[in-house]
Amino acid sequence: MNHDVRDAGDGLLSERLALRRFTPADLPLLTRLNADPQVMRYLGGVNSPQQTQAMLDRRILDYYQDNPGLGVWATMRRSDGECLGFHLLNHIQGESLIQVGYRLFPRFWGQGYATEMSLSLLRYGYTRLGLGNIVAITALENTSSQRVLLKAGLRRNGERSFKHPAYAPFGPLAWFERSAQDWLDNHPAMES
Ligand SMILES: CC(C)(COP(=O)(O)OP(=O)(O)OC[C@H]1O[C@@H](n2cnc3c(N)ncnc32)[C@H](O)[C@@H]1OP(=O)(O)O)[C@@H](O)C(=O)NCCC(=O)NCCS
Repeated sequence: MNHDVRDAGDGLLSERLALRRFTPADLPLLTRLNADPQVMRYLGGVNSPQQTQAMLDRRILDYYQDNPGLGVWATMRRSDGECLGFHLLNHIQGESLIQVGYRLFPRFWGQGYATEMSLSLLRYGYTRLGLGNIVAITALENTSSQRVLLKAGLRRNGERSFKHPAYAPFGPLAWFERSAQDWLDNHPAMES
């Protein structure tokens, strides 16, 4: 990938990773991610190129304009500028709740990347954005994602269902959340 990782969305960095905003030029990359059956296994199946175009236009690019500081960002490896997939901190559709999430190409799984940037995003959300609570939802069967959320410091709190058409077909989803005070008390900032 040729993207400059210094152009990270909202300047967010972790030890090995950086976030940058998506642009219209990322359509092929995002289309590949959303067309991968392993990636989309618990997300309702693969997306068509048209579905990904709509996601990029509305859920990603328009959303940046309407919701400063929040969004879906490309997750870049700082050592070589490789795009690993995306991380997000945005609204659960149809709700005022802010969720953390991620979607990585399978060749990058199992190296702690999803957890590492989720920790940075949670700190960013609680401190720089001043969010009082951050939540997450995953399919009940998506145990690796649930493991990531626990490692990032969220707490499992039963299940929830949503009426919004983006989630309704899944039925009950595993529900995670943690308040700012609780998370920050347990994740003191490192001295730099
Ligand atoms: C979920 C996903 C982001 C995980 O990325 P990752 O970079 O591999 O995550 P990490 O390496 O930080 O951690 C994965 C953890 O899950 C564990 N894990 C992996 N497969 C597992 C399984 N089948 N059951 C239980 N735990 C599993 C790993 O052992 C690891 O935990 P550990 O560090 O305690 O050993 C990745 O699988 C993915 O992109 N999936 C497709 C998209 C998706 O489902 N996103 C979540 C939507 S809610």
